[in-house]
Amino acid sequence: MSYRIETNCVQAGWEPKDGEPRILPIYQSTTYKYDSAATIGEIFDLKADGHTYSRLSNPTVAGLEEKVNALEGGVAALGTASGQSANFFAVFNIASAGDNFVAFTSIYGGSVNLFAVTFKRMGIEVRFATPQMSDEEVEALFDERTRCVFGETIANPALNVFDIERYAGIAHKHNVPLIVDNTFATPILLKPFEYGADIITHSMTKYMDGSAAVMGGMIVDSGNFDWEAAGKYPELTEPDDSYHGVVYTRDFGKAAYITKARVQLMRDLGPTLSAQAAFQFYLGIDSLAVRMERHSENAMKAAEFLSAHPKVESVNFPLLPTSDQYELAKKYLTKGCCGVVSFVVKGGREKAMNFMNALNMIDIVVHVADARSCILHPASTTHRQLTDAQLEAAGIQPGMVRFSVGIENIEDILEDLTQAFDKI
Ligand SMILES: Cc1ncc(COP(=O)(O)O)c(C=O)c1O
Repeated sequence: MSYRIETNCVQAGWEPKDGEPRILPIYQSTTYKYDSAATIGEIFDLKADGHTYSRLSNPTVAGLEEKVNALEGGVAALGTASGQSANFFAVFNIASAGDNFVAFTSIYGGSVNLFAVTFKRMGIEVRFATPQMSDEEVEALFDERTRCVFGETIANPALNVFDIERYAGIAHKHNVPLIVDNTFATPILLKPFEYGADIITHSMTKYMDGSAAVMGGMIVDSGNFDWEAAGKYPELTEPDDSYHGVVYTRDFGKAAYITKARVQLMRDLGPTLSAQAAFQFYLGIDSLAVRMERHSENAMKAAEFLSAHPKVESVNFPLLPTSDQYELAKKYLTKGCCGVVSFVVKGGREKAMNFMNALNMIDIVVHVADARSCILHPASTTHRQLTDAQLEAAGIQPGMVRFSVGIENIEDILEDLTQAFDKI
């Protein structure tokens, strides 16, 4: 039965059999009992389905994976302990020392670090592209060792809207998949597979949870990328010696990429999503569709208010007609643009800090994308490790404030902003 996305938020995933709990249970167990040693052997050989050890899989985590997979319209999904580990796995699953990949500069600062510093230590080179580059300039970054293209559907915090169709076209021309981080948009506002993306990642920590209570990540595969035809992914198309010769594409078809990430990377590196966290995400997603609608509506009103405020230098919100992202936003974000608005307070870094300190209800926290309105100064927090040039490339000015508009009554939000501006 196929339902619309709002219905899938509450109905997809766990399907109880006769007499089973209606709500996905928390299977708080590291291990699973079988009557026969032979059955466990079959599961270990990946010839039979089943759980053996919770580092690799757990029924509660599987319920969540199925739900997110249904929302994104993929073939398989893998939960991880954080968004960072999801992005790490998404690239590392198909890149080894000596390989490179193309990533866009307007992405989360933690991803910039992971790609530019940690991947470099592993011998994997990131080649940064900017949204301003022509197709030819982006294509000039590719060579025979390029393994994927990576972008964020709505960039944190610059809020650039990623032109998925355009970059999927370039990636596919060079026989590599397009990976997109869909954390801010969530599948409620944007479904990247419909525009040609091949793999989606999430920091579940954000809107998927919605309460700022749990950490987690997710990778979803569309199953559309043809690893065999691309001819450059031996880790998927040739025997895996670390798993007694399994050939992922031959043995798992469209689920090859996720199966490899699970049985090889999760086995060896182990950033497992816990059953407790999976359960909380599962409940959080019940309200995702209504929350995203309210977040988007409140953010639009806040962006309009800020645009008209004399103490604000500029406002960045893709659905404002004045935004340079407006055309892309109209194409990709027809249902709204999530709750994140960034703006620059007149007077630079110090005035921005004073404004934040003067807020009452809106908290200063290192977080974004949850039900409570919150605010942060990217240049001195999430993006602190970036050089001035990297900050500029990520679209971050010293006076920029990232405002995550919650689902409170918009009048309370605007009143708090007003009184804080009055104090500076
Ligand atoms: C777009 C995006 N991707 C990935 C991450 C990393 O996720 P996590 O904090 O769950 O590790 C974040 C965190 O803010 C993010 O905003």
